[in-house]
This record gives sequence, C-alpha cells and structure tokens, in this order.
Amino acid sequence: MNSQQPASPAEASVLTDMFARTISYLRLSLTDRCNLKCMYCVTEDEKDGHLVKLGQDEMLTYEELLRVVRVAVEMGISKLRLTGGEPLVRHDIMDFINSLAAIDGLDDIRITTNGVLLEKYAQGLIDAGVAKVNISLDTLRPKRFAEITGVDCFDQVWRGIEKALAVGFSPVKLNMVVMRDINDDELVDFARMSQQMPLQVRFIEFMPIGTSTRWNTDTYMTSDEIMERFTNLGELIHLERRQADGPARVFKLGSEARGTLGFISPISHHFCDRCNRLRLTSEGRLRSCLLHDEETDLKGVLRAGCSDADIRATLLTAIQNKPKGHQMAQRLKEQGADCHGRMSRIGG
Ligand code: 5AD
Repeated sequence: MNSQQPASPAEASVLTDMFARTISYLRLSLTDRCNLKCMYCVTEDEKDGHLVKLGQDEMLTYEELLRVVRVAVEMGISKLRLTGGEPLVRHDIMDFINSLAAIDGLDDIRITTNGVLLEKYAQGLIDAGVAKVNISLDTLRPKRFAEITGVDCFDQVWRGIEKALAVGFSPVKLNMVVMRDINDDELVDFARMSQQMPLQVRFIEFMPIGTSTRWNTDTYMTSDEIMERFTNLGELIHLERRQADGPARVFKLGSEARGTLGFISPISHHFCDRCNRLRLTSEGRLRSCLLHDEETDLKGVLRAGCSDADIRATLLTAIQNKPKGHQMAQRLKEQGADCHGRMSRIGG
C-alpha cells in the first residue's frame, strides 16, 4: 500500500483493506436534512412530528468536505457519490459541486437524490460534470407517493426524472425499495417501465437500518422473490457486470427493452467480498460498512487543527477497520438485528 504518501493523479495510489479489497469509492452524506419524510427513513415517533436534525455546526463545512475529498483522491479514491438526506437541499450546493469537479483525479462524481429538486438542478449538475444520477422512487402512484414520503409531489419528481433524461444523464437509475404490502403490487409496472424508457430500474432489498423504522420480516422481500414476479413478463436476459452497475445484478426484460432492471440484494446475496466503499456521514464520521455501526470520528480530527497526514491516517484507520462482511442475514436469524445509525446521516 503506497497510500501514506500523497500521489499525483498520474501515479494514482491504490487503497486496500485487510481483506485485499480495493477501496476506491467514497460516499458523502452532505446533510441529514430532506424535503421528504419517507416511511423507512423516519422513526415511528418522528412520523407525525418534527424530525431530529443535526445542527449546522455538527455537519462538516464545504471547506472541510473539500479538504477530505482532496486527500482521499490523492490516496486512491476515484469515485464519489453525493447523498444524504437529500443532497440538493443543502445551501449553495452547486458551488460545492463545481469545486469538487475541479479536484484533479476525481473523474467520477454521482448523485443520489429523491428527485424533488432535480428539474431545477439537472442542467447545472450535468454542466458541472455529474453525469450519473440515481433517483429514489418507490411508487408510480401519486397518492401512494404522498403516503410513503409524507409529501404530495409525485409529479414534480416525475418531471425531474424526465429532465434528467432530457439533459443527457446516463445512466439514469431509479431506486425502488421493495416493501411487501406497501409497494410490491407495483413491481410489474416498474419492470414494464424499464422496457419503455431508457432507465435502469433497480429493486433494492429493504434493509433494517435505523431504530424503529418500518422494517420487519414481513415487509422484507428477497430479490429472488421479486424476480419471480417477472417470470410471465418476458425473458430476463442477464447482462454482463459492468463497473457502472455497482452491486446490482442487471437484466434486460426482453431483447427490445430500452432500459434495464437491476437487483440489489444486500441481505440475500450480499456483495461484501467486492465492496469498495467508504462512507462519510453527515456528522463527519467515517463508516466503512453500511450495516455495521462502528464509525471513526473524522470531524473531531479536522477540528483539532489537523494536518493532511492526520486525515490520511484517519482514513486508513477506517479502511483497516472495514469488516469482512456484515452477515446481516445471519444476524437477523439469530437476534433480529438492525443497525442503529440513521440512514439520512449515514447516506444511502
Ligand atoms: N433499505 C433499503 N434501501 C433504502 N434506502 C433508504 N433506506 C433504505 C432501507 N432501509 C434507499 C433509498 C435510496 C438508496 C440510496 O437507499 O431509497 O434510493
């Protein structure tokens, strides 16, 4: 590992963890704030009241974030995802993204958004060089959208999706968190949409993240069960894995389909052995596994007036502590485990 030394982009370093996985992908939760209140994200007691949010000074500033990203890129991170919360609600977001895009060696910046503000920002994002977008969308029915998210704005999100396609994002991925008896009756509609539109429609297994959200063994559906729903729709053609697919297994529904289907199975077919991710939570903590609560405080290090070498050392510590796997399927069988971090702070 030559990651102790800053490297020029031309001689990019490689970051590896204790299990010989290359860590090249950093996900930044830019804020825990969101303009939706999705049923799987808020806790039962927040549902009808106020959400508990971080104070402004509890989050990393843009200057702090840029510094961390610069150091991480020198160490070998080449891909960055902006997430949240809803990243597009953070003030002056485009200035921040433009500064990120100017970092040497960072050639792949992506964003995950709920789409509410995408109509407004799509052109600016693509102009800044963010060409890949994931949009969370759990239903195609406006009334149900309001029930799941707490806000009646399906049409606005849909316009955001159309705008993303119109300005040339490629790929545009839609993330559907599949929940039995909540939206599983729409699986076929989502699959058909991948035939008609140039989208990657991705079915994500519902994960037990956050304390007392709606996860339970009844709402959880495995990818295999989801896939079975499509047996009568046409041939599912398995496509070769490409870098851009991330952890998804990707299929085309019939050879004429304009888009693709992706299955993300963090629980039933976990992808820990090829996980290349590190997360920075909106509280400025490094988290090396979505489904493990262990985190490394980076904000404290930054605010103690650290050097770049200290940032490097903290990133390395987090990477060295990356667990081999999350064994969530096993943990669930044994003790009904969930993880206690909040998705909005961890970053989905
Ligand atoms: N399980 C699975 N996916 C989730 N997401 C948010 N919470 C969960 C959960 N508990 C999704 C969001 C977003 C993606 C990054 O993660 O819908 O699309």
